Amino acid sequence: MSFLKRDHNCGELNINNTNEIVTLNGWVNIKRDLGSLVFIDLRDRYGITQLVIECEINPELANFALDIKSEYVIAAKGKVRKRENPNQNIPTGLIEVVVSELQIINKSELPPFDISGENEASEELRLKYRYLDLRRQKIMSKMLVRNEVYKITHDFYYDNKFVEIETPVLMKSTPEGARDFLVPSRLNKGRFYALPQSPQIFKQILMISNYDRYMQIVKCFRDEDLRSDRQPEFTQIDIEMSFIDQDDIITLNEEFVKTLWKKILNYEVTTPFLRLPYKEAMSRYGSDKPDTRFDMELVSIKESVSNSEFVVFKEVIEKKGDIIALNAKGCAKYSRKQLDDLTEFAKKYGAKGLAWMKIQDGELKSPIAKFLNESEIENIKKATNLEEGDLVLISSDSWTKACTIQGALRLKIANDEGIIESVKDKFNFLWVVDFPLFEKDDESGKVYSMHHPFTAPHPDDIDMLDKDYYNARALAHDMVINGHEVGGGSIRIHSSEVQSKMFNLLGLSDEEAKDKFAFLLDALKFGAPPHGGIAFGLDRLVMLLSGTENIRDVIAFPKTTSGLSLMDGSPGSVDNTQLAELGLKLV
Ligand code: AMO
Ligand code: AMP
Repeated sequence: MSFLKRDHNCGELNINNTNEIVTLNGWVNIKRDLGSLVFIDLRDRYGITQLVIECEINPELANFALDIKSEYVIAAKGKVRKRENPNQNIPTGLIEVVVSELQIINKSELPPFDISGENEASEELRLKYRYLDLRRQKIMSKMLVRNEVYKITHDFYYDNKFVEIETPVLMKSTPEGARDFLVPSRLNKGRFYALPQSPQIFKQILMISNYDRYMQIVKCFRDEDLRSDRQPEFTQIDIEMSFIDQDDIITLNEEFVKTLWKKILNYEVTTPFLRLPYKEAMSRYGSDKPDTRFDMELVSIKESVSNSEFVVFKEVIEKKGDIIALNAKGCAKYSRKQLDDLTEFAKKYGAKGLAWMKIQDGELKSPIAKFLNESEIENIKKATNLEEGDLVLISSDSWTKACTIQGALRLKIANDEGIIESVKDKFNFLWVVDFPLFEKDDESGKVYSMHHPFTAPHPDDIDMLDKDYYNARALAHDMVINGHEVGGGSIRIHSSEVQSKMFNLLGLSDEEAKDKFAFLLDALKFGAPPHGGIAFGLDRLVMLLSGTENIRDVIAFPKTTSGLSLMDGSPGSVDNTQLAELGLKLV
């Protein structure tokens, strides 16, 4: 299986190599047969070089080239010469290689989609043939950005005295709010490992063990519903530091992101980033990960209708909820159907209805106008700056829900109206801070940690843990870029007693807490330093750095939104012998 081995790659030859005899290996990107000349664009990881076969001078070679098709792996030897028709768009565009020897190293079947061009096949087909998709420049360039991110990350944290330590993949469950992927133990039948949702507890233990600054680029696993920026297995840049406060974490990690953007995009990020308290983020943008590249801010119109007899408003005001409005400038043109669609969209976020008000051709139109008096309407117009041509959308609900619904509508309208497209080259970096420590599930009434149960309460709110703990803030921080939560972290609880109390507030009895977290509660008793950290979603950073909204574009072998790997067919079934070995039976 010997072949003519390359002495150059397909991305490096230029005018200085003129007259050199070179050998190249690669894939046939495109072949063009012009009768007297045959051109082959030869592709490898480094680029594309044009090969030319002169049919009259070398008829035998021309004949041989007839058999060569797209995606064949070939070797070509020949002399570099200046091109008659240069291509300024590629680094090798000034030269071509006049072929004197040609070898087919391996054939290829006809690919199920075009690899050389810009045309996109369906994602399903691309994922099934991921090995071909990965060959495409569009995907490969993102894999290479990802590779840069690994390198810059390791260098940055290494230079800042961080130590990379691997934590177990087979472990006990760590609560990060999603379901665990479980791995049955053969040696301990009936018992299960959980794959890490994050290395949270291990990194805290490393602080107790005096490693001072830990980092790891690490796979995490969460069995949750998937979206365009969520995968069941994803990669974190996981960070933990001792003897620090929240400002230290924030400052250092802003510097990290600044370094990434500078080195990869040559983009100057301005630091310090804006820090938005959670309440402000929610009330102005209806999101704890606001896209602040454009305004379109929400307003509360509760004051405008505080004495309203309209039941939808009245009931919510009585229940201490809120009435949140959004002015979609210029959207009075929306048809009845479009407004109905917006209502259906709002319902996905739990809305019971969606009120609207618009001014079109000087006339105020609204399905709720008949329930409101003139001064209420005037108040709403003023509060929302409702002008000719505008559409105001209104949600009446609990504060969180009303903000969330309007925040989702804000993004939808910005998308539909091309506002997001118009700011797509902008980057907005910010932190969301002062998160609530807890969130309550409206239906079950159960209380959960907003971040995770190891997050320290805000020092000003410590006393609240004994009475109205539900309103206490956390020392947590999320980094947000263009509406994506790219990282989240906190200062941790470093006292065993406070940690036990936190578990109790979360509804875990002492017994349950011990059963699940005895090792952490014990470790905290052996000299735990004050510590805290953050974890970045590496995939999301790469998405932003490579300009895609689809997380699957930046992961070599991703899963579909139903959790399937179309290339290898996982998850697969297992046979009964394998189950029996594990002491399992399917029901
Ligand atoms: P958190 O749960 O916020 O924090 O996760 C950190 C970051 O990881 C990314 N991320 C994801 N990316 C892709 N697919 C997913 N399913 C997914 N889930 C999360 C996000 C997120 O901001 N242990 C804590 C960190 C800490 O407290 O230090 C943690 O895991 O970008
Ligand atoms: P109804 O009295 O239920 O027909 O509602 C009258 C109007 O109020 C309709 O336009 C509804 O879409 C709207 N509406 C109902 N519930 C809400 C709500 N929670 N928030 C905003 N508007 C609502």
